[in-house]
Amino acid sequence: LFAGECDFFFAATTIEGLPPMGAPEIAFAGRSNVGKSSLLNALTNRKTLARTSHTPGRTQQLNFFALGGPPGQETLRLVDMPGYGYAAVSKQKIDSWTKLMHGYLRGRASLIRVFVLIDGRHGLKDTDAGMLKLLDTSAMSYQIVLTKRDEVKKADIEPRIEATLKALKPHPAAYPDVIFTSSETGEGIPELRAAVAQLLAE
Ligand code: GTP
Ligand code: MG
Repeated sequence: LFAGECDFFFAATTIEGLPPMGAPEIAFAGRSNVGKSSLLNALTNRKTLARTSHTPGRTQQLNFFALGGPPGQETLRLVDMPGYGYAAVSKQKIDSWTKLMHGYLRGRASLIRVFVLIDGRHGLKDTDAGMLKLLDTSAMSYQIVLTKRDEVKKADIEPRIEATLKALKPHPAAYPDVIFTSSETGEGIPELRAAVAQLLAE
């Protein structure tokens, strides 16, 4: 699936402007700059499919990518989302992104899994609580992915995973496993691909 074609095919800025439902969708959510777009590139083995940036607030739309066939015949869609928790954009923008993300995450029947990315150097933050709560109350299936593993000392990897699993205890809708990835080194990427393949097989 990930060795084949992957094409950007749609950018949505409003709920009314979402593409018609088709193949199952998997979305990547998380704080600004956590590495959502980078992870999408690592997953699909592309360097510049999704645009990344050092500056938070890079992704400003819901970007849809078709996998496993050309758009229209894809077997899976990957959805890159704008980040949350970024204060330096206008309130108007934050409001419109929030409306878009929340509307999408609550009401999309073809959305089969949300990967919530958490910076592996910092763990779960207060700003993540709102996202987890939204997914809990929407009964949306989600899994935590820790990012930037290459920036974390080896000795801190297991404790970070344990702490994250512990923080997920009050969130029964969260998948009870955490994947620790690096888009730089590729660590954890095979595990994430396996998780995606498993979802499609269900
Ligand atoms: P927004 O679209 O602004 O919400 O950000 P994003 O979550 O899509 O983050 P993006 O992928 O643009 O990456 C943000 C910054 O983190 C960039 O400078 C990336 O190079 C860096 N980055 C992403 N993943 C990794 C990683 O695994 N390791 C390291 N060291 N840096 C990473
Ligand atoms: Mg992005």
